[in-house]
Amino acid sequence: MPQTRATFAPSPAPANRKTQWRSAALGLAALALAAAGCVQAGLHVDTQDRQPIQIPSLLSRLDDDPAVTNAAEWNARRAPLLRAAFQNRIYGWLPADDGARVTTRRQIATGAYPDARSIEEVTVRLDGAGAPVLFRAVIFLPQSNTATNAPVIIAPNFCGNEAALGFSDSALDHGAWLPSRCRTLANRTITRFIHGQNIIRPPFERLLRAGYAVVTFYPGEIVPDEPMLAAEAIARLPGQDRGPTMGAVGAWAWSISRAVDIVAADARFDHSHVAVFGHSRFGKAALLAAALDERITAVIANQSGRLGAAPSARNVGESLNELSRRFPHWFPIVAQSARENAPNLDQEALLALIAPRAILLGGASLDRWSDPVGSYEGAAATNDVYRLFGGHGLTQSSIETPDYSADIAFFMRPGRHGIRDLDWTAAIAFLDAHRNGTRYAQARP
Ligand code: GCU
Repeated sequence: MPQTRATFAPSPAPANRKTQWRSAALGLAALALAAAGCVQAGLHVDTQDRQPIQIPSLLSRLDDDPAVTNAAEWNARRAPLLRAAFQNRIYGWLPADDGARVTTRRQIATGAYPDARSIEEVTVRLDGAGAPVLFRAVIFLPQSNTATNAPVIIAPNFCGNEAALGFSDSALDHGAWLPSRCRTLANRTITRFIHGQNIIRPPFERLLRAGYAVVTFYPGEIVPDEPMLAAEAIARLPGQDRGPTMGAVGAWAWSISRAVDIVAADARFDHSHVAVFGHSRFGKAALLAAALDERITAVIANQSGRLGAAPSARNVGESLNELSRRFPHWFPIVAQSARENAPNLDQEALLALIAPRAILLGGASLDRWSDPVGSYEGAAATNDVYRLFGGHGLTQSSIETPDYSADIAFFMRPGRHGIRDLDWTAAIAFLDAHRNGTRYAQARP
């Protein structure tokens, strides 16, 4: 296949330097302001603020469903009931798998990534309600796995594939809608200062060196993160007639499963090691995708917060009202009324739906907004369910001491909300521990 032109972004030309310095200065100022705001707003996480969640065991009677005593009952009765409840009451219904297909495939030069055996861009076709919906994914294969199929990490990106790769390749820029924080170099520089170096570019080099294939795509190409555009885009996707239509978080979760379709149809990947890494809003989507799609064998949800891993029962961090006011297109149901109508349904049940598969949750010391302590408590509440499958769930003795080989691990790092080196260091440690051991493979029903 012919290789298309792709050059790694050159060092900035002198004329650009001024702009870059200006961007950097602006970013630093924004960072200083944001950091000051953090301290003032009391966003430091108090790790002692345990407030254990007062919930009955996830195995006890739920409405008309009697108590669950074994894995077969969980799989046959409780898990389908919970999956339906989350879609009816919070996320809306995701369309059934419509079998996403790759329609075009092209090689991208690997020069900038010596640890890549190949880099491909694929166009994925989804047959929706009207004209087919297309999106692009970029697949990196590691050098180190030429003989065997590679474990894979699916990592949705925030600013499009071109910015994620750091390539200047005109064919990669498909003109998808981008939020303003991604649109110009200055805005992307500020975004990186505030939300971390890896918010825009996952560390592909590190992941390839560690032996992982990576599939990245921009969920905003399918459903933009903007209320009007999101509604129009969701209307173009395949429908379903069971209940409320999904919001953007549901659609992004569905798109993660479409990336899994691509992986599942390709023998170059190790289908027993399919991980998803999602940060914040994509952490919410990654957890939902894993709860509904059992082909995902491990999920890393970094600072996923409200309606991610954080139980809504805890009154810490972002409120449901605030979430639905600022992001009305993310969930189809006014979140607060969802909570009032379904007081028994909380986020630890979403985590439990992923059992016996592996979960890593990430938190940051200046990110009280996403309530890491609550997420840790919620993770501990799933242990009864992991035990049904012969596992243990969350076993670490404190929020600061992750046990990466456990079924669920919690990683807490210093600093603000965002994706930084340490978040990926934890993710790699966790995936390595699960790849080299046989814990979750053995625990599968
Ligand atoms: C906002 C929102 C969070 C979300 C985060 C993100 O802060 O309040 O719920 O997780 O954006 O996606 O970065």
